[in-house]
Amino acid sequence: MKLIILKDEQALSNYAAKMVMDHINDNPNGLLVFPTGNTPLGMFESLVSKYQKGLVSFRNSSLLELDEYYGIAINSYLNLFAWLDRTFIQKVDFFPKNVFRFNSDSLNSEAEIQRISAIIQSKNGIDLLVLGLGTNGHIGFNEPNSDPTSPTRIVKLTPESLQSNSRYWDEDSIVPDSGFTLGMDSLLKARKIILLVQGNSKAEILNATLNSDISASVPSTYLRPLKNCYILADQEAASKLDTNLINNLG
Ligand code: PGA
Repeated sequence: MKLIILKDEQALSNYAAKMVMDHINDNPNGLLVFPTGNTPLGMFESLVSKYQKGLVSFRNSSLLELDEYYGIAINSYLNLFAWLDRTFIQKVDFFPKNVFRFNSDSLNSEAEIQRISAIIQSKNGIDLLVLGLGTNGHIGFNEPNSDPTSPTRIVKLTPESLQSNSRYWDEDSIVPDSGFTLGMDSLLKARKIILLVQGNSKAEILNATLNSDISASVPSTYLRPLKNCYILADQEAASKLDTNLINNLG
């Protein structure tokens, strides 16, 4: 794992977008997995701008959803997919047949999980994985107690995740308390991983990710031994790190 500390959110977003662009230009046919949330917004904006300038194209890439609520209508604007679609997918040139999502109101969740697992297999695994970091160390909806063998599955969401995702919902909405997630087993095998960590609210969990024992209680710690994993943090997120660690890793 390599830790790269950037000045602020803008610098982090630009750096992440350039890494993604360079990776896609070198590997145009891969399976991409991108996160939802506040953290990747600047990266998406920068990628859209690079696409508009002709610097990158997604027409040969595939995209698979990282996670999704379970138990809401597939055409609901509250789907995480709908968010990703509005924010990014529609603004660039993916072919619809290469974009894959969880069916959030599937009646047969087991078959849905098999379908998604078969897509990952048919694409030879995830090529480029970009992640955000939950304040509890989750990656995707792999909540605490997800070990590296955790498969793609439905999980019960923790109060932290429900709270952090409440911004997607109106106050009186009934928020699903479970969701699909790609499993740790597929995520940790991605050929390149970029973890984005931004803001003071992530300082504690970034420190735990880098310094606590590698264990399922903080799933993001499993990224640490991976040579192909880049953690991009802004200075606020890095504010609780030991400076020796920064010098050694940076
Ligand atoms: P955030 O969410 O980017 O909105 O902080 C990250 C996450 O919970 O995975």
